[in-house]
Amino acid sequence: MLDKDRINEILSEIENMKAKNAEELEVLRIKFLSKKGAITELMGEFRLVPPEMKKEMGMRLNELKTRAQDRLAELKAEICLSDEGQEELDLTRTSYPVPLGTRHPLTIVKNEIIDIFSRLGFTLADGPEVEDDWHVFSSMNFAEDHPARDMQDTFFVESHPDIILRTHTSSVQSRVMEVQQPPIRVICPGRVYRNEAISYRAHCFFHQVEGLYVDQNVSFTDLKQVLLLFAQEMFGNDTKIRLRPSYFPFTEPSAEMDISCNICGGKGCAFCKGTGWVEILGCGMVDPNVLELNGIDSSKYSGYAFGMGIERITNLKYQVKDLRMFSENDVRFLREFEAAN
Ligand code: DAH
Repeated sequence: MLDKDRINEILSEIENMKAKNAEELEVLRIKFLSKKGAITELMGEFRLVPPEMKKEMGMRLNELKTRAQDRLAELKAEICLSDEGQEELDLTRTSYPVPLGTRHPLTIVKNEIIDIFSRLGFTLADGPEVEDDWHVFSSMNFAEDHPARDMQDTFFVESHPDIILRTHTSSVQSRVMEVQQPPIRVICPGRVYRNEAISYRAHCFFHQVEGLYVDQNVSFTDLKQVLLLFAQEMFGNDTKIRLRPSYFPFTEPSAEMDISCNICGGKGCAFCKGTGWVEILGCGMVDPNVLELNGIDSSKYSGYAFGMGIERITNLKYQVKDLRMFSENDVRFLREFEAAN
């Protein structure tokens, strides 16, 4: 029966209605607003209202209908909001793919070098890149004013002529010997700096790995054997090595080591300038002066040392023709090493 009481009854039902999901909401819509819904039914009864009541009843009926529609819309919004909340907590959803970076080629090669020497019993040592003259030169048997200091163009710290950027990782030899007595068996990877004009074949900073072994009765044969093993692990079992006499202030005798060119297999190509050999490192027996300068008894101990450039080894392995590529952070270049990661 359409009267004020019935309208108020339905109004209070509408104000109190609740829905947890879309299905419950639909049940409510049908109950009040569908063709057979309670409000539609009341609307049907409007024609029976006496004329003097029509105006008021018409207004009340319209208000009721609008309120019902608004209330359903409110409930719908509440359900959508709580749905979104649930989405955030959906533990079954796959994660977004996270784009991965790649390891730098120099890091890949450095790690490979470390890995090979760790298997031979070498441990890691490390020293500062901003060094003093003692550790870079004097303790390594570079005499004061000796022309050998010119072999490496040095960056000096203005106002502190004694403080320099290390030009080689040989300085770490001294850092290790001053705190440790033999047996010493370390490799020291790190960055070094030289005052060179930047071009495709030279840079003002690059990377080296130094090796140092000091014990009783260490011989040149031990050095040769370790370096052969390293070369074959790094470049393949068919790799040959050859040692050419050379000069370094900190080793006596000194040598430079070539490996058979792994690009042409020793036949001769542009990379090895047709010789079939490429130089990869310097080495030698630690000069007894160096042992003494660093507090080690040279009558009791002997040692060998070697130093190699990581860029050089990387160029040989991956044929990178321009040294500058290593420090330009061009993602297209770095991505080429994804497979080696
Ligand atoms: N320090 C040398 C350089 O930077 C490389 C080197 C040569 C290191 C002979 C050594 C060595 O330990 O025995 O050119």
